[in-house]
Amino acid sequence: MKTRAAIVRGNNGPWEIVELELDAPKRGEVQLRMAAAGLCHSDDMVRSGLTVVRLPAVAGHEGSAVVEAVGEGVTQIKPGDHVVLVFSPTCGQCRFCASGQSNLCDYGGIMTVGGLLDGTFRFHDGANDVGGMPGTFTERVTVSEHSVVVIPKEIPLDVAALLSCCVPTGWGSSVIVGGVKPGDTVMVIGTGGVGINAVQGAVIAGARYVIAVDPVAFKQEKSLEVGATHAVSNTDDAQKLLTELTRGVGADVAVVTTNWVEASHIRSAFDAIRKGGTVVVTGTAGSMDVNTVSLPGTILAWWHKTVRGAVYGGVNPQSDIPRLIELYQAGRLKLDELITQRYTLDQVNEGYADLHAGKNIRGVIDFTL
Ligand SMILES: NC(=O)c1ccc[n+]([C@@H]2O[C@H](COP(=O)([O-])OP(=O)(O)OC[C@H]3O[C@@H](n4cnc5c(N)ncnc54)[C@H](O)[C@@H]3O)[C@@H](O)[C@H]2O)c1
Ligand SMILES: [Zn+2]
Ligand SMILES: [Zn+2]
Repeated sequence: MKTRAAIVRGNNGPWEIVELELDAPKRGEVQLRMAAAGLCHSDDMVRSGLTVVRLPAVAGHEGSAVVEAVGEGVTQIKPGDHVVLVFSPTCGQCRFCASGQSNLCDYGGIMTVGGLLDGTFRFHDGANDVGGMPGTFTERVTVSEHSVVVIPKEIPLDVAALLSCCVPTGWGSSVIVGGVKPGDTVMVIGTGGVGINAVQGAVIAGARYVIAVDPVAFKQEKSLEVGATHAVSNTDDAQKLLTELTRGVGADVAVVTTNWVEASHIRSAFDAIRKGGTVVVTGTAGSMDVNTVSLPGTILAWWHKTVRGAVYGGVNPQSDIPRLIELYQAGRLKLDELITQRYTLDQVNEGYADLHAGKNIRGVIDFTL
């Protein structure tokens, strides 16, 4: 079967729309027709070469789809089901999945290779294998059955796409990794697609004050719209506000979700938290060897502070995505408001240009356009 897809070839080049051959699902796999795909900053890091993966690859890891076919042995998913893709498979069997930490599934590393769980590829460009991460910037994709979560059909597929990455990652950064409690004061640095959901998580968890920090005025407005109590353009202003609001105590939790994390962002978060407070580092700097953490260790010790990394917001996608859907259905979690622009697959470069220009909370490729 043929599929049109946006691929990354390397050298910081643009997304290229090509026609690829797609294999039918093998044992334990499902073939999907994409409905919508979110434009996450992480994919741009792959395109620009800051995150090193095997290329060429169909990037995109945020998306919703309809199941078209299932391979041998697939019993829990059937054609016609609506699904959300998960960017890290959840095998259910490894030590991490078995202990309720499936965001750390041992198969997570396949993202850097882009193959299926058995190490082989389903996308091909002539004789060459093309990876997928799992690949949502494509009309169709074949993935492991462990890379999808079935969702109720009444959930609109466009908003469902956000449940793949930015919503659970941001929400979980506050609620699960940050452990925000009722009455807490929370600061979120960088309120794009991921950060605005850290704001939502803190609000839903009952935080008293939620301070959103982003230099883009429209993102500050959006944060206030989803429940932030304050929104400012920089961490110096946030620090003044925190000192005033908490009478010098500081924030309980500070979440770092800037698109390109620098040591100064983590230092600001570290300075903002109270004794015994927690910094959650969710944003990345692409490459694995950039040093983004440089902190005064004596203060870390004497002030009993915690600095925690967070992948996938610490969620268990199979159980937490349904919880997030229920919050959406109850009107507590805002998703429709987060889609600020829609693009066709051919407009993917335009979508990322808009992301760089600060125009979107989440731009979405809408395959129905
Ligand atoms: N850990 C994970 O599991 C995980 C998952 C997805 C994304 N990410 C990472 O999260 C980060 C955010 O991704 P996104 O898709 O939300 O990106 P985004 O571009 O939508 O949002 C980033 C925001 O940070 C703001 N910003 C930039 N510099 C700032 C500063 N100095 N102070 C305050 N705000 C600043 C930008 O204006 C923007 O609104 C990226 O680094 C991405 O790679 C991590
Ligand atoms: Zn993402
Ligand atoms: Zn696992």
